[in-house]
Amino acid sequence: MAKEETKMEKIVSLCKRRGFVFQGSEIYGGFAGTYDFGPYGVALRKNVVDAWTNAMKEHDNMALLDSSIFTAPKVWEASGHVSGFSDPLVVCKECHSKQRADHLLETIGISADEKMTEERINKIFDAHRDKLKCPICDKKNFSSVSAKNLLATASLGMFEEGDQQVYLRGETAQGIFINYKNILNIGMYSVPFGIAQVGKAFRNEISPRQFLFRKREFEQMEMQYFVHPKDAHIIYEQWKDERMKYYETLGLKKDKLRWKQHENLVFYAKDAWDIQYEFPFGWEELEGIHYRGDYDLSQHQKFSGVDLSAYDEDTKEHFIPHVVETSVGVDRTILMLLVDAYDEDEMNGEKRIVLRFSPNMAPVKVAVFPLLKNKPVLVEKAREIYMMLKKEFPGVVFDDNGNIGKRYRRQDEIGTPFCVTVDFETIEKGEGVTVRDRDSGKQERVSIEKLSDLLKNKIN
Ligand code: GAP
Repeated sequence: MAKEETKMEKIVSLCKRRGFVFQGSEIYGGFAGTYDFGPYGVALRKNVVDAWTNAMKEHDNMALLDSSIFTAPKVWEASGHVSGFSDPLVVCKECHSKQRADHLLETIGISADEKMTEERINKIFDAHRDKLKCPICDKKNFSSVSAKNLLATASLGMFEEGDQQVYLRGETAQGIFINYKNILNIGMYSVPFGIAQVGKAFRNEISPRQFLFRKREFEQMEMQYFVHPKDAHIIYEQWKDERMKYYETLGLKKDKLRWKQHENLVFYAKDAWDIQYEFPFGWEELEGIHYRGDYDLSQHQKFSGVDLSAYDEDTKEHFIPHVVETSVGVDRTILMLLVDAYDEDEMNGEKRIVLRFSPNMAPVKVAVFPLLKNKPVLVEKAREIYMMLKKEFPGVVFDDNGNIGKRYRRQDEIGTPFCVTVDFETIEKGEGVTVRDRDSGKQERVSIEKLSDLLKNKIN
């Protein structure tokens, strides 16, 4: 356990050192549950979003959406978030820190989750309270469990009746449900079809923790597939299958992923499975694949008064489509990729840290170096090659900072799979450049004419 926590600490510090992720509002002492992304974090984020979007776009009947973060407050009443989107909160009576009751129970091996009723979790908590210690002050003196609503609020406008309290969206899914009829009305999509969206979500998490794993402001990649109820089960199984296969394309270690079925279904869910990843702090949810029945559309139909049914050409009947949902966080995927790629080894007698991203996910694909920074002839040629490669594919950087050994170490920590060096043989003998492989450290010499094709082959 201690060793695994050390790995998380090393990842957090690498992320800061190399410009992936910084603590939010760091110069003001940090702001819990928020993180800011630096240049390589932004690039990694883009790769994650692009990979997901491209996988969704492989389906011809998939509509992309970008819905608003501010929505009519009624949306969240209809969805059930106002009344039932909560986490079980306990307060330590000694140090006044706020903790999640289910997380405290997990520390002594008792399984509970946020979907349980307040009454049920209170009962479990009371049965074990003499064993539960506050992680901050180590004392055993907690309040009873109360449900803490997770919706974050903002106030908008200067209305006559005063500012109006609105909810920041707690999930992107609701934007999809309230636009489902708009998409259907375009005339290009009919049931079964999907709507996919990437966007920010906000939650008033009681105890944001584990770096990017549980944040208060995060990004979701959600897809809602609208199906006829008679096809729902088979389509649900197809999506489960597809989503697990998708993770293989990200180059992850296979034995780190597994399925977990929900034991406590929320009242409207018909079936719910999570893809879990083995993080250094244990097996945790990465993505949820849930069969939500007709709950969402029925609720929005009821609250909005708008007919949200679809028409079945075969039976000539109207019906409310059922929904199969796939939902995963961008930030949680990034954390998984960092954890999966992080490695330490020895190269040429020196210890090194290396991120072994698969080339398609690596934020930088190729770094181009002049062997020496102070030889204009090398720098000029290296810049020329850099400009050439930059036109060919994204994720190419120029690096002449420090000696060549330092540059390799830096690029290894960024996870750059290939480094191209211009040396004297390039200039004097026209013998091309060296291409160094991140994982083996081996170098091969290749002519400049063949360089771009060689790299493209390796990256793809
Ligand atoms: N629409 C369903 C939904 O939002 P969820 O299990 O609450 O379900 C889906 O969230 C996914 O969003 C999770 O599997 C996780 O990847 C990501 N996620 C949820 N809460 C998060 C948080 N506080 N920080 C980072 N990612 C989060």
